[in-house]
Amino acid sequence: MTKDKFEYRKDTAFINREKELDYLRGFINERPESILFIHGPKSSGKTTLLYKFLAQLEKEQKLDVKFFNLRKKLIGYNKDFIRIFFGIDYGKSKGDVKETREYGIFNFFKLSVEVLKGMESGELDPFEIMKLEFVKQNRKGIKPVLIIDELQAIDHIYMNNGKDRRVIIELFNFFVAMTKESHLAHIIIASSDGYFLNTVYNDSRLKKTSKFYKVDYLQQKDAMEWLLNLEKHSKIKDYALTREEAEKIWDTVGGSMWEIQDILGELFTDPLDSVLELYKRKMRGIIDFYIELSSGRKKILKCFVENDSLGLKDFASLRIDTDVLKELLKDMVKNNILYFDPTDAVYYPQSKSYRWGIDIYFETLKEK
Ligand SMILES: Nc1ncnc2c1ncn2[C@@H]1O[C@H](COP(=O)(O)OP(=O)(O)OP(=O)(O)O)[C@@H](O)[C@H]1O
Ligand SMILES: [Mg+2]
Repeated sequence: MTKDKFEYRKDTAFINREKELDYLRGFINERPESILFIHGPKSSGKTTLLYKFLAQLEKEQKLDVKFFNLRKKLIGYNKDFIRIFFGIDYGKSKGDVKETREYGIFNFFKLSVEVLKGMESGELDPFEIMKLEFVKQNRKGIKPVLIIDELQAIDHIYMNNGKDRRVIIELFNFFVAMTKESHLAHIIIASSDGYFLNTVYNDSRLKKTSKFYKVDYLQQKDAMEWLLNLEKHSKIKDYALTREEAEKIWDTVGGSMWEIQDILGELFTDPLDSVLELYKRKMRGIIDFYIELSSGRKKILKCFVENDSLGLKDFASLRIDTDVLKELLKDMVKNNILYFDPTDAVYYPQSKSYRWGIDIYFETLKEK
C-alpha cells in the first residue's frame, strides 16, 4: 500500500476495523505467550488489516517486523527452507558471493555467507540462529514481530537436511518455543484456508499454545457508512447512492468489500438494478459450473438453501459415505465456494453473493 499522487475516479477504501485493530494492539502489548492465527473467508480483509495495523504500530513503538506474504513469493516455488527465509548480508560476507545468488527470497534474516553455508551443511541450526536474532532485538528494546500471511503455501516444503522433516512442523515447534516458552517474539499467522487452519488446530501441540481470531466481512452499519459516503471513502464524485440503493447492494453482496468495490466500478456506466441482476446471474453461473454433473456437490449445496451454516454431522441425512463427504467439502473449501470456520467447525457459503448463487440455481431447477 504505497502512497502515490494519482487521482482515480474510484480509490481503495478502508472502512472501520477499530475492533480488530484494538484486538491486535492488545495482542502485541502482552508478553508473547501464544501464536495468533487470523482466519476469515476469502477476501475478508486479513492482509489489508495487517498492513494497516503495522503502519499504525510502527509509529507508536519500536518494532522489528518481518512480514512475509507467502502468496506473493512462493507460487510455483520449491526451494528449501534456508534459501527461502535467509538472505545474505553482503556487508558481512567475505570473498566471492556470486554462487550464493539463490538465497534471500525474503531476506528474512540477513547473515554472512559463511553462516548460511554452515546452516546448509547442517553444522549450524537455523532455528537457533533465528532465536539469537530475537534475543538480540529484545536486548536492544525492540519487539520482534513475525507475521506470515498464507502460511499454507509452504506446506509442501521440506528441510534441506533430512528429507522427511516438513518445514511447517519445524516452524510450529519453533514458534511455540518462541512464544509460550521463551516469550521472545510475537508470531501472527494469517490464512483463508480453513482446512489448513483446522489441521493446525487439531494438532495437539498447538491447541494450548494458539489463539484464533476471525476477521470477517464488514458489518451492515459499516457497509452502509461506506455506500452512503462514497466521496469520503472511495473518492467517487461521479454519483452518490440513496439509502434504498445502498441497501440493495448490501442485500446482494453483504459486507464483502471486494464485491462492493466491483459493483461500485460498474455503476459508473450501468444502472444499479441491472448491475445487481447481472451479479446474481453471474453467481448462479459460478455455482452451476461448479456443480456440473456432480450429484454429491449438488446435494451438499442444496442444504444451504434452508440453512445458514452446517457441521459435518448435519449432512448425515444425505447418506454420502463419510470419506467421500469429507473430500467433497474439502474441495468446496479449496475452491472458495464454502468457508470452513475452524472455531465452530461449521461450513457456510463464502459470502452472501454465493448464497444468492445457490438459491437462484436451485430455484431455476424447480422452474425447469
Ligand atoms: N476495511 C476495509 N474497507 C474497505 N475495503 C477493504 C477493507 N479491507 C480490505 N478491503 C478490500 O477488500 C479486498 C480484499 O482484501 P484482502 O486482500 O486484505 O483480504 P484477505 O482476507 O487477505 O484475502 P485472501 O483471503 O485472498 O487472503 C481488497 O480489495 C481490499 O482493498
Ligand atoms: Mg490475504
